[in-house]
Amino acid sequence: MKLLITGASGLLGINLALEAMREHEVIGVDRGRLQSAPFEVIKTNFFNNHAFDAMLDSAQPNWVINCAALANLDECEKHPDQAKILNVNLARDLAEDCMKRKIKLIHLSTDAVFDGTKQGAYTEEDEPNPQNIYAQTKLEGEQAVRDTYPQAIIARVNFFGWSLSGRRSLAEFFFNNLGEGRNVNGFTDVIFCPMWVTHLSQMLIAMLEHNLSGLYHVVGSQAIDKYRFGLEVARRFGLREDLILPMSVEDSDLTAKRSHNLWMSVHKLSTDFGLEIPDFSTGLDGFYTQFQQGYPQKIRSYQQ
Ligand SMILES: NC(=O)c1ccc[n+]([C@@H]2O[C@H](COP(=O)([O-])OP(=O)(O)OC[C@H]3O[C@@H](n4cnc5c(N)ncnc54)[C@H](OP(=O)(O)O)[C@@H]3O)[C@@H](O)[C@H]2O)c1
Repeated sequence: MKLLITGASGLLGINLALEAMREHEVIGVDRGRLQSAPFEVIKTNFFNNHAFDAMLDSAQPNWVINCAALANLDECEKHPDQAKILNVNLARDLAEDCMKRKIKLIHLSTDAVFDGTKQGAYTEEDEPNPQNIYAQTKLEGEQAVRDTYPQAIIARVNFFGWSLSGRRSLAEFFFNNLGEGRNVNGFTDVIFCPMWVTHLSQMLIAMLEHNLSGLYHVVGSQAIDKYRFGLEVARRFGLREDLILPMSVEDSDLTAKRSHNLWMSVHKLSTDFGLEIPDFSTGLDGFYTQFQQGYPQKIRSYQQ
């Protein structure tokens, strides 16, 4: 199959492209960061261009996965207009153009659409209540895709892995700082379900192969708080756990409001798939093996 990936330089985009290339033809869409990626790259800046017709007509993909977004929460607070263009308008326009051509589409959304006040795990039936501009625009993006192209897959995700910049994911944050002997804060009151980005990539491809449609939570099967996540990364890499200082997110200087409980149920995905969803420790092992094999250096060599 031919798979077109928007946001191919992003944390998900680059890892997804490399994983998908094993069995499929990959075309990445990028606004200029990628230089020597081992797949075809189309250059487009989505602030200037939402005309996907020409791109889809020339690339002729069977599948599209939309990983392009303004995904930095504090940047979204500072630039709500840009967040709207990328997280809402782009999603809607791409859904419309894929629908016209019957191209199967996955649009990426976030666990952060929930306010985090539920006792227990959030299901796809639960009512979202976004707490910041990022989450609000991601929810509007979901709604725009669903209204435009009901057969599209909308995947609410949370993941970690190695990125082009080396600084994009929470696992890299702990790895970098602890590796350099610096103290870091670990939030004890933010619970989430992180999935290793390569597991996520495999899941997304399998969802396309199984011809699923509609809304899914695609996260790790284990809920963990961010402090413990840091401890687990430290242990796996043999770094100092005592440099991680437990604290409440309420005492942090982050701009965008964060939800406390983002424990997400993966019951729908595992039922529709008939597969077990990979857990955090298996993912962390994969992340560590990539490190031993020089994977972080390999992906960084693909940027300008
Ligand atoms: N990371 C997580 O744990 C997480 C959690 C929940 C949901 N998600 C969702 O998952 C998806 C992927 O996230 P990510 O972490 O991979 O994000 P990311 O690393 O920030 O990547 C975003 C991608 O969008 C591209 N992009 C931004 N502005 C663009 C523009 N004007 N024109 C063309 N491309 C543009 C970026 O290109 P540049 O490299 O040129 O900036 C980058 O390739 C997003 O929908 C995000 O909301 C992520």
